[in-house]
Amino acid sequence: MARILVTAGPTYERIDAVRFIGNRSSGKMGYAIAAELESRGHEVTLVSGPSSLPIPKNLHVHRVESAQEMYDTVMQLWPNVDGAIKTAAVADYTPKIVADHKIKKKEAKLTIELIPTMDILTAMGREKREDQWLVGFALETDNALAYAKDKLKRKNLDYIVLNSLADAGAGFNVDTNKITVIDRDQNVTTFGLKPKSEVAQDICEIIQPFLR
Ligand code: CTP
Repeated sequence: MARILVTAGPTYERIDAVRFIGNRSSGKMGYAIAAELESRGHEVTLVSGPSSLPIPKNLHVHRVESAQEMYDTVMQLWPNVDGAIKTAAVADYTPKIVADHKIKKKEAKLTIELIPTMDILTAMGREKREDQWLVGFALETDNALAYAKDKLKRKNLDYIVLNSLADAGAGFNVDTNKITVIDRDQNVTTFGLKPKSEVAQDICEIIQPFLR
């Protein structure tokens, strides 16, 4: 039995008391992977951004909102797990200043200054021990394979799972996905379009060598 950390869903970056910057991630892929790993007898901790999905049973769950909260939670958990699968769609930028009131409408244009968030996966890759493994996700629109291979190396991952937005029925907020998996030796495995529950099974099979 392995101890596995799964991150899922979007992050919300607050602009003011009522508004945020988010993305269309539903959390479906990460929740499906967490449920599949649990059903195979592993101890799963799910760190989830805002999602309306029901929490699969028997998981340790941490709900977070922003990229910074996800970073803090994940980095605290990371030393105590055997491996992690990072499906979360983490915001790359966050507002520099968060208004504590609701920003009022004015005649002049409004500019929101954004600053980069911490890259959680990169930080995890940097701190990864010999006995740990790390799987990242990548969503690309063009040059998908080249970018994904570069991300795998840069972030010190064992596998990267690529979803291409070019594939109908794949990606955010749908029940199906079509993935391509790349390993450290640059071997590329392509899967067909299928329900996310079956994609989760494929991913579990791929990481099986780590799970003993
Ligand atoms: N990721 C992360 N922390 C961030 C941004 C991304 O941990 N602040 C992780 C995601 O969880 C995912 C992987 O990095 O597993 C790839 O995310 P993606 O948005 O495709 O890549 P980026 O590194 O943000 O690069 P780019 O925007 O240039 O494609």
